Amino acid sequence: MEHKDYDFGLVGLGVMGRNFILNVADNDFKAFGYDLDQEKVDALKVEGGNLEKVNATSDIETFISALAQPRKVMLLVPAGKIVDAVIENLLPFLDKDDIIIDGGNSFFTDTDRRETYLQEKGIHFFGSGVSGGAKGARKGPSIMPGGNKKAYAHVKPIFEAVSAKFNGEPCVAYLGPKSAGNYVKMVHNGIEYGLMQLTSEIYDLLKKSCALTNDELHTVFDTWNKGRLQSFLVEITAEIFKQDDDLGNGRLVDKILDKAKQKGTGKWTSQNAMDLGIPVPSIDIAVSMREISALKDERVIADKLYDRPEPAKIDKEELISMAEEALYFAFINTYAQGLHQLADASNEYKYELDLSVIAKIWRAGCIIRAGLLEDISSAYVTDNKLKNLLLAPSFVPKVQKAVPSARTLVAYAAKSGIPVPGLSNSLTYFDAYTSSNLPLNLIQAQRDHFGSHTYERIDKEGIFHTEWGA
Ligand code: 6PG
Repeated sequence: MEHKDYDFGLVGLGVMGRNFILNVADNDFKAFGYDLDQEKVDALKVEGGNLEKVNATSDIETFISALAQPRKVMLLVPAGKIVDAVIENLLPFLDKDDIIIDGGNSFFTDTDRRETYLQEKGIHFFGSGVSGGAKGARKGPSIMPGGNKKAYAHVKPIFEAVSAKFNGEPCVAYLGPKSAGNYVKMVHNGIEYGLMQLTSEIYDLLKKSCALTNDELHTVFDTWNKGRLQSFLVEITAEIFKQDDDLGNGRLVDKILDKAKQKGTGKWTSQNAMDLGIPVPSIDIAVSMREISALKDERVIADKLYDRPEPAKIDKEELISMAEEALYFAFINTYAQGLHQLADASNEYKYELDLSVIAKIWRAGCIIRAGLLEDISSAYVTDNKLKNLLLAPSFVPKVQKAVPSARTLVAYAAKSGIPVPGLSNSLTYFDAYTSSNLPLNLIQAQRDHFGSHTYERIDKEGIFHTEWGA
C-alpha cells in the first residue's frame, strides 16, 4: 500500500490528464494518477520516472488511500455521463471535506447539480475549466476554477504553480461560486469559435482575391503576430501555412476537408446567450458556419447551380493592410460580446465575476490568449462594472480607427461572393450597438397591429395600444 502523502490525485490519464499530472509533479507536488486502462497507468509511471513524485494505479482503493487529506482529486475525463460515473465510483472512498475538481468542459448546469449533490455529502466540488490543449496542460494552462471559496485554499497552491504565468502572475484565480468556472470556460470557448471563424475568413479573402500562396499567407500572419494581433491563434495559423503534407502532396492545409467538427461548447455559449438575452452574433455565426461546413455534399451541388462573381481587382498590399485592421476590429467585437455575456451571467447566476481577473487569467496559457487581452484587462481594471468593452474610453479610438477597413472589406467580400459572416456580423453588431436609433419601432408597431402586443412611446410614459387602420 502506498503512503498517504500524495498531494494531488488525477483521474483519467488520457492526453490531457497525463500532461497535467506530469506538470504537477514538475512543480514539486507529489501526484498520483488513476485510470482503468493499465497501459496508460504503466506509461505514466515510465514517463514520470520517479514513483515518489508521480505514481499511478488502476485500482481505486490504492488510488484513494495514497492521497493526503483533504484529498484533492481532479477529473480529466470526457464531459457528460462519465463524470457522474466517476464521481459515484469515488464517493464510497472519500471523506468529509475532500475535494473533487472537474477539469473538463462540463455544461455549467451539470456542475451546479453535482455541486449540490456532493455538498450534501460534505464533499467540495469544483468545476474548473482548463485551457491550452495538451501543450498547455504540460507546460502551463490557464485554469478557471469555481466552487467553494474556503476549499479553494487547498487547491490554490497547486493550481498557481502549474498554471501559465503572465509577467510572473499565475493564469488562474478563484472565479466565483458554483459553476462560475465552467461558465467562464464555456464563454472562453465561444470566443475561441468566433476568433477561429474570423481568422479563416481573412485567409479566404486573401487567397481568393489576391491568390496569396501559403508562403505569403505564412508571412502575413507571422508579421501580424508580431503586432497588435499577437495571439496564439494567429501564431498557429502562421505555422499551419508552413506545414508540408505528410503524404508529400504540397501543403497540408490544402488537403484538409473543409468540414469543421465541434464538441458543443460554442453552441452552449450561443444558446445560453439567447436565454440571457445578450447578443453574441460573432459567436452565433461561428457555430452556424461549422454547421454549414458540415453540409459539404449539399454545398457541392448548390455550387453548380449558381454563378458567383469574380473577385474584383484589389491591390494586394492594400488588402493585407485592411485585413489586419478588420481582423483587429472583429477580434475586439468578439471579446466584447463574450465579456458582455459574462457580465450579464454574473448577475443572473450570482457568480460575482470580476472581469478584470478573467481577462488577466486569459493573457497566457489558454487558446484565446492575445496581446489584446492586456488592453482588455486594463479597461476592466479601470472600470470593473463596464457593461461592454465598446464603451471603454480606451477602446473607442482603437475601434474608431479600425472600422473603416472592416466596412471596405465586408463590402468588397459581398460584391465578390466571398462569405465573411463573422466579419460582417461583427460590423453589424458594432453598428447596431452604437446606434441610438434602430428601426425596431416598426417591429413594435407591427406587433401591436397584428396582435395588440402594445408599445411604449418616446414622448410619454406608459403602455399604449392602437386600433391600427381604424
Ligand atoms: C481549450 C479548448 C478545448 C476544446 C477544443 C475543442 O481551451 O483548450 O477550448 O477545451 O476542447 O477547443 O473544441 P471543439 O471540438 O468544440 O472545437
